[in-house]
Amino acid sequence: MATTKTIELVTAVPGPRSAEILARKEQVVAEPLSIYVPVVAAEGRGATLTDVDGNTFIDFIGGVGCLAVGHAHPRVVSAISEQAQLFAHTDFTVVPYEVYVELAERLYALTPITAPTKAAFFNSGAEAVENAVKFARAYTKRPAVIAFEGGFHGRTLLALTLTSKTHPYKAGLGPFAPEVYRVPFADDYRGPDAGAALAALERALVEAGADVERGVAVSAAHEAHAEPVAA
Ligand SMILES: Cc1ncc(COP(=O)(O)O)c(C=O)c1O
Repeated sequence: MATTKTIELVTAVPGPRSAEILARKEQVVAEPLSIYVPVVAAEGRGATLTDVDGNTFIDFIGGVGCLAVGHAHPRVVSAISEQAQLFAHTDFTVVPYEVYVELAERLYALTPITAPTKAAFFNSGAEAVENAVKFARAYTKRPAVIAFEGGFHGRTLLALTLTSKTHPYKAGLGPFAPEVYRVPFADDYRGPDAGAALAALERALVEAGADVERGVAVSAAHEAHAEPVAA
């Protein structure tokens, strides 16, 4: 079996225990949750993952970018353990608690924004995206949202509408939320370049009735001439 300093394979991949659990998964886990890497995790340490057959891999996925400090960082483990021994949940809007306020304060201190800044915390990326749009709509009184081609924003209705890729995420799941407009994202390597992407954005704004010269966006969606794009 191949062995390097970090990666250690002691069985074929997937190993017998992973294969057995994946077969059980087929019977009881809903179909859309398909698997990218057919090994079943047993434990992680830093940048490595060891599967239930004892194979160790370098984890280049990191929970799709969520694990900035890697797996089982001792300070994270002890913070989770300390809090779990105090209480797990109250719903902050019913009974608030200090660590929520402290996290907002610490993020505020890190954020390079000079204006007064406030935070809200949600359960998932999709819920955060949905609420960011709600906050923006409440503040600007403008309903329309611009999303970029190629973007992934989550699986709830508005987040899914904002998500660009139809397969596998959106096919057959409409109708989607209204007032979502899509423009290309600049990509100097594959195109379009920044100039072309900005021109497409300007065209979309003009079609929707914005006065780009004066930098004034006409927000009322019913005044828009462009058709919203939901897919
Ligand atoms: C950029 C981005 N936005 C939103 C989401 C949705 O997050 P969640 O799966 O926690 O709802 C993801 C998830 O991968 C994401 O990568």
